[in-house]
Amino acid sequence: MDKIRIIGGTPLKGNIRIGGAKNSALKLMCASILTDGVLTLTNVPRLADIRTTAQLLESLGIEVAFETPDGDGAPQRLVMNGGTLNNTVAEYDIVRKMRAGVLVLGPLLAKHGKARVSLPGGCAIGTRPVDLHLKGLQLLGAEIELDGGYIVAVAPNGLTGAEVTFPFVSVGATENLMMAATLAKGTTRLINAAREPEIVDLAECLKAMGARIQGAGSDTIEIQGVESLNGAEHAVMPDRIETGTYAMAVAATRGDATLIGARPDTLGAAIASMEAAGVIVDRVPDGMRIRCGALVGTDVMTEPYPGFPTDLQAQMMALLSTAQGASMVTETIFENRFMHVPELSRMGASINLHGRSAMVRGVHRLTGAQVMATDLRASVALVIAGLAAQGETIVNRIYHLDRGYERLDVKLAACGAQIERIAG
Ligand code: EPZ
Repeated sequence: MDKIRIIGGTPLKGNIRIGGAKNSALKLMCASILTDGVLTLTNVPRLADIRTTAQLLESLGIEVAFETPDGDGAPQRLVMNGGTLNNTVAEYDIVRKMRAGVLVLGPLLAKHGKARVSLPGGCAIGTRPVDLHLKGLQLLGAEIELDGGYIVAVAPNGLTGAEVTFPFVSVGATENLMMAATLAKGTTRLINAAREPEIVDLAECLKAMGARIQGAGSDTIEIQGVESLNGAEHAVMPDRIETGTYAMAVAATRGDATLIGARPDTLGAAIASMEAAGVIVDRVPDGMRIRCGALVGTDVMTEPYPGFPTDLQAQMMALLSTAQGASMVTETIFENRFMHVPELSRMGASINLHGRSAMVRGVHRLTGAQVMATDLRASVALVIAGLAAQGETIVNRIYHLDRGYERLDVKLAACGAQIERIAG
C-alpha cells in the first residue's frame, strides 16, 4: 500500500488549483439515469470515488466515457448516455465501496419504476442509515422492502409528488428525493431540506436537463414533475472541502498561497472560523489568498450548511493543535468522527475527548510520526499536521486520500512542501 512521506516545517507558498467537487460530481453522475439523452459533465476531478461511480453506472448499462481534451492532469469531461441503461440492480460489490451509490435509487425508481440497490451499511465515521431516503420515497408512492441486504423498491404506476418533511437535515436524502421528484406526477415540496452548495449545483444541472425546481439552497425545495428530461452539459462546481483543506494546510505551515478557482461564497461558516483562529482570508479575482498571523484557539461546532462543515472538522483540529490557547471542537453530524485524535496525539497534540467534543490545547510544535487513519478527511488532517510538524511523518493507508484529493502530493510539492508518495 502506498504511503506519503513528509518532512514538515516548510511554509506553503504559491498557487494551488482547486478541482471539481467530489461530493457534487457523484450525484450529478447519478442524474444521468434520469434521461434517455447524453449528460456531459465538465470539471470532473480524477478521483477513485468518481471511477467507482462510473463503474456503477456501467453496471446499469449506461455508456460512460472520460475525455481529457486539454491533456493529462487537466479536469476531465465525462459523457454518460442514459439511453443505454438496461439493468436496475446496483450490486453490493460496488455500493459497499462508496455510500453515495445509494443515490441511484431515486433516479432508477423515477425513470424505470423499479430498483434493487444494495444497502450501503455502516462506515468508519458512524452507522449512517438511509431511513430518510426510504421514507421520503415511500411518501412519493414507492413500495419498498429490504431483502438480503438489498433495498427492493417498485413504483409500478410511477411516483407522485408529495410533501416530505425531513426530521433533520440530510444531504443525501435531499438529493435522492429531489432527483426522484423531477419525474413524479405533480408537485413535491421538500421541507427542512439540506442547503449545501452541492444541492444547488445538482438543481442547476437538473434544470438544464428540463426539470422544474425552485428554492434549492433554501430549506424548502419545490419540484414540479415533468414527463421526461433531456441531456445537457454542466460544469461541476469547485470543491469547497478541498478549498478549506488547502486553506488550513497553508495556515498550519504559516504560509502564503492563493487557491485558484476557489469559491469563497460556498464555504459558509468555515471562513469565519478560520478568521477567528487568526487566518487571513482575502478574496481575490479568481479565488482566495490565505496567509496566517499568530494562530489563536477558537471554538468550532459542526452543523449543516451554512454552519461549519463536518468534512473540515479534522483539518481544523490539526490547525488548532498548534494555536495559542484552547479550542473546543464539537461534532454534531456524525457520532464517530474523531479517529484522527489518537493519531494527532501521537504527533504531540494535546487533545482530550469528552463525548461529542474535543478539547484542544495548543502546543508550540507538533513532531513527525508514523500515522494512519480510517477515513478521507482524517487522513488529510494527518497530512496537514505532518506539514506543520518538525521532522518526518509517514502517513499510511493513503488510498483514503485518493478517494477525495486529486494529486495531493503534487499540488503541495509545487508550493514547496517536502512531500513524496512512496509506492508500497
Ligand atoms: C454527505 O453525506 C457527504 N457525502 C459527506 O461527506 C458529508 O460529511 C455529509 O453529507 C454531511 O455534510 C457525499 O456527499 C457523498 P447526510 P450524506 O445524509 O449525504 C444521518 C466526505 O468526507 N442520516 O447529510 O451521507 C447520518 O447518519 C463525506 O466527503 C440518517 O440518520 O450525509 C448523519 O449522521 C463523508 N438517516 C446525518 O444524518 C438518513 O437516511 C447527516 O448525513 C440519512 C442520514
